[in-house]
This record gives sequence, C-alpha cells and structure tokens, in this order.
Amino acid sequence: MPVFPAPTSRIPPVTGPAIRLAGTARFGTATLFRDAVLELLPGTWTCLLGPSGVGKSTALRLIAGLDTGADFQGDIKALDGSPLTGRVAYMAQSDLLLPWLDLRGNVALGARLRGSPPDWPRIDALIDRLGLAAHARKRPASLSGGQRQRTALARTLMENKAIVLLDEPFSALDARTRADMQDLAAETLAGRTVLMVTHDPGEAARLGARIYLMENNTLTQHPPPAGHPIRAIDDPEMLACQAALLLQLRAAT
Ligand SMILES: Nc1ncnc2c1ncn2[C@@H]1O[C@H](COP(=O)(O)OP(=O)(O)OP(=O)(O)O)[C@@H](O)[C@H]1O
Ligand SMILES: [Mg+2]
Repeated sequence: MPVFPAPTSRIPPVTGPAIRLAGTARFGTATLFRDAVLELLPGTWTCLLGPSGVGKSTALRLIAGLDTGADFQGDIKALDGSPLTGRVAYMAQSDLLLPWLDLRGNVALGARLRGSPPDWPRIDALIDRLGLAAHARKRPASLSGGQRQRTALARTLMENKAIVLLDEPFSALDARTRADMQDLAAETLAGRTVLMVTHDPGEAARLGARIYLMENNTLTQHPPPAGHPIRAIDDPEMLACQAALLLQLRAAT
C-alpha cells in the first residue's frame, strides 16, 4: 500500500474564485437541466451527485470550456469577474492517458504540452505519494484500472490551476486507497476551487463544503455536514450526511 513521504517540492499556493453556472442545457429536444444554478464556493470543494445520465459530466465540461455538443443557454463565470480561460485543470471520467507514453511521461504531459521542462523531482515525489513508483516506467496498457486512474489524478494534481474539475476521480479505487487519495487530493488542492462529480455519497459527505444533487432536470443543494472538509471517516455528522444523501438518491423518481 502507498506510503506517503513528504514531497520534495510542493505546488505553490493558489486561491480559486467562486464560480457560477446558471442556465439550461439540452441535447436536441432532451433537456438535461433547466434554469439550474451551480455555484462553486471559492477555495474549497463542491460535490455533484446524481443518477447516471443526468448531465453531471456535461455540466463539468461546460465549466471547463470544453465542447460538449449540448445547447447551453446561460452564463458561466467567476463571481470576482476574473477570466476562467487557462485557469482550469480537468480530470475526465475516462483517464485519457496517452498509450505510447509511460506513467511518468503521462504525468509530465501538461508541462510538455505547454512547452516547459517538466518538474521531475515534483513529478517523481507525487508518483511516489500516489503509490505508483514501482510502475513509473510502465505504459498504460500494463497498468491496472486503479493505477491508470491514479496516473490521471497525478497529471491533474501537477497542474497548478486555481480551478480543478474532477469527474469521478476515485471511482476505480479500492476503499483504502480511495480514502488515502481523498486525503492527498484535499491536501494538494488546498485553496483551489474544486468541483467533483461522484456517485459515492460518503465521498461527497467527506469532501463537500457544498453538495448538489442533479435529478429530474434540476439541481438542488443538500446540506453538508458541519465543519470543514476534509472530514474524518468516522465523523458522525459525515456518516449521517452520507446516509441522508443515499436516501435522497434512492427516493429520486
Ligand atoms: N454529444 C452528445 N450528444 C447527445 N447526447 C449526449 C451527448 N453527450 C451526452 N449525451 C447524453 O446526455 C446525457 C447526460 O450525459 P452525461 O455524460 O453528462 O451524464 P452523467 O450524469 O455524467 O452520467 P454518468 O454518471 O453515467 O457519468 C446522457 O443521456 C447522454 O447520453
Ligand atoms: Mg459522467
């Protein structure tokens, strides 16, 4: 299992802005969400849950400024008026690893694409913290699903962006590694504005300063547990919130 030594170098501190998506998204005649408001709190985590196919990834991709194919009528902006362009790191639901690069090369991809020299000490420290050091020279085809997902997570964590959009970042991980990676991501992304899509009510209750449910074409807020994320795994309020979220998801029509 991964052991977490202190990293040799850290990502410099960044503070993310509050962000608001407000509007309606459709694919043809099918409405994904109508007059929805999704407001990300500045410098902390917002979590988005909802049944498969409701439009969570589409909302995330809209905020990322990526092509979705959806007809979106509305507005997406930072509430302090600052631009979003160039300030967003995005981890897709599929890992999008390049098959011809090894794990290390995939983690360094962002720097390469920017034409800057990769920060190898920080990359290697992060790979080590993610428990992937023994696999650093493997290509994606030789990695397990959970190893691939952690590689994609490492690539996202290497981006020093103020806004971080994570689409089910821990979904392929075993329970212990998932908890470890939640801790690591919360620590590494301190101060960032993070939106995480997840199907795991416990994950949302552990990490969300704000929690949204998307169902029946609408977005509603669910009260988060008291206290600031990241919450202890055995925090009674966190566990109560987890249960309440699951009940609400099961009650959805
Ligand atoms: N380019 C597209 N053209 C038409 N329909 C699309 C397109 N992309 C997504 N959809 C549809 O929009 C709906 C929402 O898709 P989306 O990927 O946002 O769902 P999701 O909530 O992320 O689901 P999951 O939890 O399964 O990942 C789905 O019914 C999907 O089939
Ligand atoms: Mg999705």
